[in-house]
Amino acid sequence: MVMVSIAPSRHTLQLIKEFGEFAVNIVSERLADAASNIFGYLSGRDTDKFARAGIEPERARAVRAPVIREAPVVLECRVRQYVAAGDHVLVLGEVVAAYRNSDEKPVTWLNGQVRRLL
Ligand SMILES: Cc1cc2nc3c(=O)[nH]c(=O)nc-3n(C[C@H](O)[C@H](O)[C@H](O)COP(=O)(O)O)c2cc1C
Repeated sequence: MVMVSIAPSRHTLQLIKEFGEFAVNIVSERLADAASNIFGYLSGRDTDKFARAGIEPERARAVRAPVIREAPVVLECRVRQYVAAGDHVLVLGEVVAAYRNSDEKPVTWLNGQVRRLL
């Protein structure tokens, strides 16, 4: 299981509720700029973020959400539970497919900085 925490105003939450599925794409340093300035900043409600980032959306293996072909780690999930938590909703998902799409090192966002996970 994995958990993501999403504000109710996000288009992402609307899509997850509509399809009951989502994908977590853990990016590499090369994709970090697009992750924070496009995918994490613009809304899918009025922008095609994949087109804006120049990334071709890839068909997932087990869910209907698109995935990023170059992402070092992809977790495809089916929603098992929603938990209201203050100004966010915790979305608990069962991982139905997990794989690596590239050998690049995955990164995370910590204290305002991109950091390597491995
Ligand atoms: C590094 C980073 C982490 C973020 N983490 C979250 C998060 O955990 N939950 C959330 O609701 N929004 C988070 N955001 C903000 C959303 O990604 C942002 O509001 C985005 O525009 C929402 O797009 P959407 O309307 O297509 O869902 C994050 C943004 C960045 C740059």
